Amino acid sequence: MPPVTAIDAGLRRGPFQVGDRVQLTDPKGRMHTITLEAGKEFHTHRGFLRHNDLIGAPDGSTTTNTAGTQYLAIRPLLADYVMSMPRGAAVVYPKDAGQIVTMGDIFPGAVVVEAGVGSGALSMSLLRAVGESGRVLSFERRADFATIAQANARAFFGADHPAWTVTVGDLVESLPSVVGPASVDRVILDMLAPWECLGVVGEALLPGGVLICYVATATQLSRVAEAMRDHGGFTEPHAWESIVRDWHLEGLAVRPQHRMHGHTGFLITSRRLAPGVTPPLRKRRPGKGYVTDLDGEAEWDAEDIGERVPSDKRVRKVARSMGETSRRLP
Ligand SMILES: C[S@@+](CC[C@H](N)C(=O)[O-])C[C@H]1O[C@@H](n2cnc3c(N)ncnc32)[C@H](O)[C@@H]1O
Repeated sequence: MPPVTAIDAGLRRGPFQVGDRVQLTDPKGRMHTITLEAGKEFHTHRGFLRHNDLIGAPDGSTTTNTAGTQYLAIRPLLADYVMSMPRGAAVVYPKDAGQIVTMGDIFPGAVVVEAGVGSGALSMSLLRAVGESGRVLSFERRADFATIAQANARAFFGADHPAWTVTVGDLVESLPSVVGPASVDRVILDMLAPWECLGVVGEALLPGGVLICYVATATQLSRVAEAMRDHGGFTEPHAWESIVRDWHLEGLAVRPQHRMHGHTGFLITSRRLAPGVTPPLRKRRPGKGYVTDLDGEAEWDAEDIGERVPSDKRVRKVARSMGETSRRLP
């Protein structure tokens, strides 16, 4: 096989070397991540182990500390790394990063815009998906967060990823000076107010390009969906969430874990229409009382939230049938 030159491939294979991150798991399942240094020791309240004992050992080895505690030593995967790396802002969890890469159709060679960068968790999944021939153009308005994200990615890839550019600034102000109109394949927004960015994002996306927003609350989801519709240049949005339930596997006790992450965020996606094209009318219209003005003063009723209100005739019919049922009861 020809030698692999991809940026992080060299760090993921072969015996442990100085500078490698190694995940140690003790018999109780407690994890620690260390970076191997010649002559260094890893101490816990019960004994220590020498890094030198791991340097040169194969990935997936065990080692024992001075108190006789055995550790499994293995290289962390990207999913392990993002959960343990230093954080500025909250990260996109691996389960959602997987959804974004697949449902956002992030392909090798793609030009992807991402904002904000936060701690860089999602950026790393995007960089892996586009590869060295693609571009991830990330925007972050906080310089301190951008610095943390770049340090995290550098530690993971072992060098600055050649496909990555981080611009410090607000996306709305910075995007038009970084990319030309209709030049971007995919846009991922993970921020408080993605609806504020739809104008510049609509300009930057190629026809057919994908926009994905990741939001934490249902109120944000609703607002960004309405903003996509109001923009007029996007297809009807599609929203979803993913729920992952880990399983306990112990002898005959094979069942879901008692604890889980009940909520991380919602995803909403849409495609950019060609210039001048208006979205086809939806076949299923919203209910007649459906309110799109979320700032409106009016009190909400069932129709405002798209609930079907039964006609008086239907309610009378149900009531009549219940009366007949109760009459038949002894
Ligand atoms: C939840 S964090 C992003 C986390 C990141 N996706 C990760 O996986 O580590 C949201 C970030 O968006 C940034 N942000 C919010 N609005 C922005 C905007 N209009 N332009 C650029 N960055 C923005 C915030 O400063 C914050 O760092």
